[in-house]
Amino acid sequence: MASLTVRQLDDRLKQLLRLRAARHGRSMEDEIRVILRAAAQGGSHKAAEHAAPPVSPSPRVSSAVAAAGGRVLLVIGGGIAAYKSLDLIRRLQDRGTSVRCILTPAAQHFVMPLAAGALCGERAYTDLFDPQSEFDVGHIRLARDTDLIVVAPATADLIAKLAGGHADDLASAVLLATAKPILIAPAMNRQMWAAKATQRNLAQLVADGVRVVGPNAGEMAERGEAGVGRMAEPLEIVAAVEAITCKTGVLSGTRMLVTSGPTSEPIDPVRFIANRSSGKQGHAIAAAAAAAGAEVVLISGPVNLPDPSGVTVVRIETAQQMLAAVEQALPVDVAVFAAAVADWRVERVSSRKIKKQRGGPPKLELVENPDILSTVAHRKSGRPRLVIGFAAETDDVIANAKAKLKKKGCDWILANDVSPATGIMGGDANTVHLVTASGVESWPPQAKDGVARTLVERIAAALVEAKK
Ligand code: C5P
Repeated sequence: MASLTVRQLDDRLKQLLRLRAARHGRSMEDEIRVILRAAAQGGSHKAAEHAAPPVSPSPRVSSAVAAAGGRVLLVIGGGIAAYKSLDLIRRLQDRGTSVRCILTPAAQHFVMPLAAGALCGERAYTDLFDPQSEFDVGHIRLARDTDLIVVAPATADLIAKLAGGHADDLASAVLLATAKPILIAPAMNRQMWAAKATQRNLAQLVADGVRVVGPNAGEMAERGEAGVGRMAEPLEIVAAVEAITCKTGVLSGTRMLVTSGPTSEPIDPVRFIANRSSGKQGHAIAAAAAAAGAEVVLISGPVNLPDPSGVTVVRIETAQQMLAAVEQALPVDVAVFAAAVADWRVERVSSRKIKKQRGGPPKLELVENPDILSTVAHRKSGRPRLVIGFAAETDDVIANAKAKLKKKGCDWILANDVSPATGIMGGDANTVHLVTASGVESWPPQAKDGVARTLVERIAAALVEAKK
């Protein structure tokens, strides 16, 4: 007589059986016995009806269905935030994304593979040397058959393994074997987050092109502890996923203005006051926002950069012209003021070239330029929902940025140290601190493009959050 084992059942049947067995607290074999017994007593039709779980696994789930919103491989690390990863699965599926799961051994102390698997609509993967999963899919296929790998929560240990190129368990082997983009959502105790080793590993990952969302500031799992280390909320992670896959354009439907570059304030027809801003950061922000689907107006001072594609560029020279162009571009949802606007202009611009005089150099009377950021942030009507400024400082970077946030009335300030030794002014890399009313978040050093993409992800998440 031929024999039938559970492993020979097709995946869908196995999944239904697993769910039903779990609900009844039986093994899968015992569940089959119950079904067969019922069939023998009440007829096959009724038994078959019974075999289907009363609540079908989520119709939004099956990874067999090629998802309109792409495929995500979710690596769940071992931290208390792992419980939020189950919600993340749902949130991703709500957007048509199919999700597969890997649980690290530590994660299984917080989340059952059965729960993650039931939500995903297929088994959760746990072992590198599990003959069945290596036979079914294998770690190389897991690494390949996805559009993006999301690590949430990304523990200090997982981050260290990824930075060091380890491959001694399924999660790290898959992360090493993939050519797909990786997004990590770090979550750990604040001391672990602040530890030099973690920050070093993180900087390495960012340099390797790994994308990071969070962590946020707030209460820690340990009673009475607070600080930076909470995993980003599932919706923030979803926004970051969408920004990377750009399937839906996280900023589509959003109107955004960006100022960029220096302003140039004339003294006479040939001379002017300017500064060293290259416009690289502002232009990168405009490009990243347009790539994420925003309708972008870029108001730029004189720069040596090509226009970012898909962006409306308005060229100006002076601060006054920049203010006029900004007001013309309103209303917008989001305004990012990355331009290095000259604080002063010459009161009386000479219409003729000023000649060298016997009596010594000319006395140039300076007057203050309008503060464009502050003007827009303090508007009574038509204020953008999100007003973001930059603070280029050489001393007390964060303290000055905090003061500026208040004084200028904006929502966020991105502060950077532009002391000559940093090479930020005009360079390709940037180290910024995001200062908001709720705290300061220091982003690791990265290319200005990376800062721009992270900012776009943050903006998208903030807009989603504001809609809730
Ligand atoms: O006051 P400070 O120039 O340091 O402020 C920097 C921020 O303010 C930047 O976001 C810059 O684009 C913006 N700003 C402005 N108009 C000015 C001066 C600065 O929009 N006149």
